[in-house]
Amino acid sequence: MRNGTNVVSQASLFSEWLRPKRDPELGDVFTRNQVSIHFDRAEHLYATWPTPTCIISDGPYGVNGFPGDHQKAESLAAWYEPHIKAWSEHSTPETTLWFWNTELGWATVHPVLVANGWEYRCCNIWDKGLGHIAGNANTQTLRKFPVVTEVCVHYVKAAAFSINDQSATMQEWLRHEWQRTGLPFRLANEACGVLNAATRKYLSPDHLWYYPPVDAFEKMAQYANEHGDPAGRPYFSLDSITPLSGERWSRMRAKFSCDVGVTNVWREPQVGGAERIQGERNGMKYKFKSLHGSQKPLKFIQLIIQASTESDDVVWEPFGGLCPGAVISSQFNRQYRAAEIIPEFYIAAIERLATT
Ligand SMILES: C[S@@+](CC[C@H](N)C(=O)[O-])C[C@H]1O[C@@H](n2cnc3c(N)ncnc32)[C@H](O)[C@@H]1O
Repeated sequence: MRNGTNVVSQASLFSEWLRPKRDPELGDVFTRNQVSIHFDRAEHLYATWPTPTCIISDGPYGVNGFPGDHQKAESLAAWYEPHIKAWSEHSTPETTLWFWNTELGWATVHPVLVANGWEYRCCNIWDKGLGHIAGNANTQTLRKFPVVTEVCVHYVKAAAFSINDQSATMQEWLRHEWQRTGLPFRLANEACGVLNAATRKYLSPDHLWYYPPVDAFEKMAQYANEHGDPAGRPYFSLDSITPLSGERWSRMRAKFSCDVGVTNVWREPQVGGAERIQGERNGMKYKFKSLHGSQKPLKFIQLIIQASTESDDVVWEPFGGLCPGAVISSQFNRQYRAAEIIPEFYIAAIERLATT
């Protein structure tokens, strides 16, 4: 860590090939192929990392759950704010953010995310099942139902549009651009060669709106620029010089794909068995028995990385812990950057990646 502990010297039990390299600029960093784990604060590194397609945030929860966690959710919004601002600054409309937290932690931070341009998509719920309380929850003492969930909330960095210098959504902008041509809305169907689906889906002002796929966008833009009022040309342009190309249009929203049958309720027990990183491994004694209280199942990390990125895309995991994203990124050819500030976690994450 810059201006702090040098983990290279601490990790005396580390075999030479696992030893992190000391970079004069970046401090301690372990790199394997396209995957790098840093021993540093994430906020020191964002500006040096490549543009993310996916950010996995699993930072403080406000439940005193692991070393460095906050005692209460109240302080989370202020703590996350500089991180959220940096994520916004370095993201593009192709970027997806997965924000892990407790329900209350997320609710506390949600307004900060929205204020910084993150558009809410969906709240995914990790249901750890009854095994999580294993008969230990005395509801008469708790005075509530036992909690067996965490959330992984899906946000995207919505593309920025404007109408007359006022910010607008993509839906509003598309409708406005067509309106400017002076052509009736129904002619969007002719432009796309369909009976009525184009007007109904792509120019709708209500919740039935759909993002126009690239070929439909290209056809509407071409038709508008050929047949629309010449005085208003170009239409569907962001620079008032040329209409947006199909290729540019395809990069104006976050990637997403998933298999049939996946819903927003993810039923899976707390990480156990061979996947659970223990407090003592390969002769190295760590301070904590089950090393990290907040270890995430690789299954979920694979799900979110595969849903929101493609091969060679960049994944950020700023609060790495045991860096599950490193394991999955390495397996599925993603570029990956993580940070961790607790030496035991950092070393265990490197060891985990190196033995994947
Ligand atoms: C909830 S845990 C992450 C657990 C991880 N997802 C896993 O499955 O192992 C959060 C981690 O963030 C680390 N952390 C806290 N503040 C940080 C910062 N500013 N930069 C980097 N890491 C930080 C903590 O040390 C902790 O290990």
